[in-house]
Amino acid sequence: MAENYDKIAKYYDKLSRFIFAKAQVNAQINQLHYISKGSKLLIVGGGTGWILEEISKIHSSGLTIVYIELSKKMIILSKSRNRKQNRVEFIHQSIEDYDTRHSFDFILTPFLFDNFSRQQAPLVFDKLHHFLKNNGKWFMVDFTLEYKSGQWWKSLMLKSMYLFFRWFRMIQVSELIEMKPYFLKRNYLIVEESFYYRNFIRATIFLKSK
Ligand SMILES: C[S@@+](CC[C@H](N)C(=O)[O-])C[C@H]1O[C@@H](n2cnc3c(N)ncnc32)[C@H](O)[C@@H]1O
Repeated sequence: MAENYDKIAKYYDKLSRFIFAKAQVNAQINQLHYISKGSKLLIVGGGTGWILEEISKIHSSGLTIVYIELSKKMIILSKSRNRKQNRVEFIHQSIEDYDTRHSFDFILTPFLFDNFSRQQAPLVFDKLHHFLKNNGKWFMVDFTLEYKSGQWWKSLMLKSMYLFFRWFRMIQVSELIEMKPYFLKRNYLIVEESFYYRNFIRATIFLKSK
């Protein structure tokens, strides 16, 4: 896949904070207290890896984390993060190509699904669904257009972001796929749902129930 975030890796966090202030960060940090001691996590599309430091502030040891990133530069930045005594396996690969016999207690996909087309999104969803243990939790954070208020500025912002990311050949897609229906169809329960940036960012904790 030619498209990836290498070009922007060094500036990604600054750009995110410039546009969204702390909204993208808070949406993710506020979910982390659900992580239980000694658990096994799969993080897909963790970016520069700042989330590893935040997780390690909550659990300084005992976690096993598999960290999948498509961008080589993002992986390099992530490796320099202080993850304390937690075990992190960094994998430079697209989630589409990744396979494992292991299953996970928690799956984190922060701002990952906005990178996928209508064809890719359900395939990645199904794959991750199978990697998650029963009663495991999936931390889903992404943009949403579900709330009708402010639809015009949210659509405009989304279009501009997609244009920018496509222009720099970081992504190929141009529309946001709402993932919530996929979770509901698979009988996930919503443990917590919070909104940020005037309801433009949704952070949901889904529980996989049988
Ligand atoms: C929008 S950024 C979000 C980064 C980070 N989660 C954050 O919130 O700061 C999306 C990240 O997902 C990674 N990514 C995109 N498509 C991917 C794929 N198919 N497999 C694995 N990682 C992917 C990108 O390299 C990028 O680092």
